[in-house]
Amino acid sequence: MSIPRKIIIDTDPGQDDAVAILLALASPEELDVLGVTAVAGNVPLPLTQKNTRIVCELAGKPDTKVFSGCDAPIARKLVTAEHVHGKTGLDGPVMPDPTMPLQDQHAVDFIIDTLRAEPAGTVTLCPLGPLTNIATAFERAPDIIGKVQEIVLMGGAYFQVGNITPAAEFNIYVDPEAAKIVFASGVPIVVMPLDVTHKALTNRVRVEAFRKFGNEAGRMVAEWTDFFERFDKEKYGSEGAPLHDPCVIAYLLKPDLFSGRHVNVEIETTSELTLGMTVADWWGVTDRTPNAMFMGDVDAEGFFALLNERIARL
Ligand code: RIB
Ligand code: CA
Repeated sequence: MSIPRKIIIDTDPGQDDAVAILLALASPEELDVLGVTAVAGNVPLPLTQKNTRIVCELAGKPDTKVFSGCDAPIARKLVTAEHVHGKTGLDGPVMPDPTMPLQDQHAVDFIIDTLRAEPAGTVTLCPLGPLTNIATAFERAPDIIGKVQEIVLMGGAYFQVGNITPAAEFNIYVDPEAAKIVFASGVPIVVMPLDVTHKALTNRVRVEAFRKFGNEAGRMVAEWTDFFERFDKEKYGSEGAPLHDPCVIAYLLKPDLFSGRHVNVEIETTSELTLGMTVADWWGVTDRTPNAMFMGDVDAEGFFALLNERIARL
């Protein structure tokens, strides 16, 4: 029995973030969630930190340490995505307000202190939203960069290009300066771009499977995806909602579900036309140093089988 992998989830719930958090908290044998840090993204910070606590309580884990982080990108005005996630960020079912506490410590200080306290190379960062908290921690405490085991993040796109602009994916677009810092940090990075998350689509059968668990978590996941899928169905004509963020946690649990290439990824931070674009050298046409494992495919049936098995436990 190996020891659980220590992770920090950085998140902007968001229905898909919520499913990712449930998946992680349902897997204590494999994952030791040291803390969950909220960042402004899909909705403003007061809502993302509240939603994070709602989800931890739904998972039956009110002792999870939840921190509030940066309320705006490093160098730009916040862009949110209520058009996708609704006004609360968790639209779909009506959820009770959380009763579990928010930690007093700022999320960035928690990330810094944890990486300094834990043995080097034993903590994985799992960003599911804009990279503001992570980049701010790296800028404020460069000594922690070499201590990070790995960053497994949802963000970016190559073949799927953009979902918030014609060129950029939302998490990277909201804080491109933060993304540039993270991708240039030298930390081993695994990227779950839209190229792979758009293949992790819900459909009626998969959503009904969640509803049929008979537990509250399964019902919530079904109701969140019922709401969340309308945006992608309208825009892409897809069959259902792409479960973007759960791909990060599924990778930690079953990496073989995914395949991709170790390539160079640079972030556009100057052109207004292509701001936030992840320029991935997928075809190796430059001599730029590869800095990220950029995923391109997922075994969707295996992904949903894992999700079902774990959410049903809660
Ligand atoms: O572009 C998809 C990403 O943006 C997901 O993480 C979603 O939650 C939003 O944050
Ligand atoms: Ca997210």
